[in-house]
Amino acid sequence: MRHIDNILILDFGSQYTQLIARRIRELEVFSEILPWDVSLEKIISLNPKGIILSGGPHSAREENAPSIDAKLLEAQIPILGVCYGMQILAKILGGKVGKGERAEYGRSTLQNLNSGKLFCGLKDEFTVWMSHWDQVEELPPGARATAKSGNILAGFELYEGGISAIQFHPEVVHTEDGVKVLSNFLFNICSCGPSWNLNSWLDDKVKKITEKISSGHVICGLSGGVDSSVAASIVSRATVNLDCIFVDHGLLRLGEAEQVLKDYESMNLSVHHVDASERFLEALSGVTEPERKRKIIGETFIRVFEDAAEKICGKDNSDNDWLLQGTIYPDVIESGQKGKDASVIKSHHNVGGLPEDMKFQVLEPLRDLFKDEVRKIGHILGIPESILTRHPFPGPGLAVRCLGEITRERLEVLRKADAIFIEEIRNAGLYDKTWQAFSVLLPVKSVGVVGDVRTYGEVIALRAVDASDGMTADWFRFPHEVLDATARRICNEVKEVSRVVYDVTGKPPATIEWE
Ligand code: XMP
Repeated sequence: MRHIDNILILDFGSQYTQLIARRIRELEVFSEILPWDVSLEKIISLNPKGIILSGGPHSAREENAPSIDAKLLEAQIPILGVCYGMQILAKILGGKVGKGERAEYGRSTLQNLNSGKLFCGLKDEFTVWMSHWDQVEELPPGARATAKSGNILAGFELYEGGISAIQFHPEVVHTEDGVKVLSNFLFNICSCGPSWNLNSWLDDKVKKITEKISSGHVICGLSGGVDSSVAASIVSRATVNLDCIFVDHGLLRLGEAEQVLKDYESMNLSVHHVDASERFLEALSGVTEPERKRKIIGETFIRVFEDAAEKICGKDNSDNDWLLQGTIYPDVIESGQKGKDASVIKSHHNVGGLPEDMKFQVLEPLRDLFKDEVRKIGHILGIPESILTRHPFPGPGLAVRCLGEITRERLEVLRKADAIFIEEIRNAGLYDKTWQAFSVLLPVKSVGVVGDVRTYGEVIALRAVDASDGMTADWFRFPHEVLDATARRICNEVKEVSRVVYDVTGKPPATIEWE
């Protein structure tokens, strides 16, 4: 992709870094994120048209605060510093950063001093989103102020915008005209052309994959989710030598395996359906501890996948065999920047992931794309809506929603209740409004009364959340009628269930899944 204009974002840990990249791509310029301490040689080798320094949680006043190599300033590449990025630019260029009298979080009014290229064509005053305590107290020599917020310096420029800095976040929707600020940087300062769009990305990708794999053989684990389906569909445009493996671990929702296979048939993919439910249920028998369940499923999945791949490709995979992975850009960023001491909340083995000892070369066509871009590519490729709009589903499937022991019978109860919940949400037109909705079968029983008879039955918890990336989530506010209809139907139609409850916990403190 190096022939197109590229904006590099150096990530200093801001919660908004990915948003900067997305805004730039929305302006049809390619952008990628690298950690702040990437080497100068690497930056130069990527030949970016411009560089953005993101915000971050550090204080530029700290002695060893993360910063950039000062030689980067001599590389004649336009640089824009945002928030913390502004403060390190000020510091490195000889200005002064101090701890302000008060923090500025949220909306603020920016005065455009009409003296810079970045604010060209913008109003004299507009609303911006701030998130800082430190502030630039003295401008670097030769710099001129371009904006203020109250008494605080909120922007400066040097070298006709070759170096620009802003205290606010242009990428956040609450910043009025934030897109205009970014487009001034891209088009007026960096002289980018709008050269990035998904149609041309797709044509280019198919061409490159065709060259790369040549006469090789590609194998792919399909899960029924968006990423693996889009990846497979792209590769099917590049070669006929694609074999997909759909491992059915017996932990899918009601009718899901059939639906997924039907969808894949309509996409003309060659899919090997491996029904391994017996093997998984046997391995899980008697296991109740959540992490053990996940580990067992991950390991069993790898063995089943290996067996299937061996049948298709032969025992010794040749140098010409490829394993297709649905890795997307947030996975790449996250795995590149994960702190060594980050605590393990849940082992999210990506079921469908790479068995470590297999001798395949890895093909990852989606590693440049954000989730919504993957969906858009899915639309261009004509992938069925049922795949593109499906709620996220965890790799270990219903195992982490069937609390306590996993048996065929308990899974059946859970499946029936879950299908009713989803049907009611769809009937209410709310399926696409929720990030994820599902039922959980609890490991406790509860007393009920049906007719005049006392019952002692299963408890179903309903969970639905609103989220944008699954990292944080809020519980979904359903109209009471939807919950009421769901609870009544579950108790009437699933005879084992005597009680239905609704989970009203956000993430944090809870996680989305119960296990
Ligand atoms: P939690 O429960 O950690 O989940 O709040 C966040 C998102 O990740 C999904 N999830 C998984 N996805 N393999 C996956 O591919 C897993 O093991 C897994 N566990 C949770 C979860 O459904 C939610 O969307």
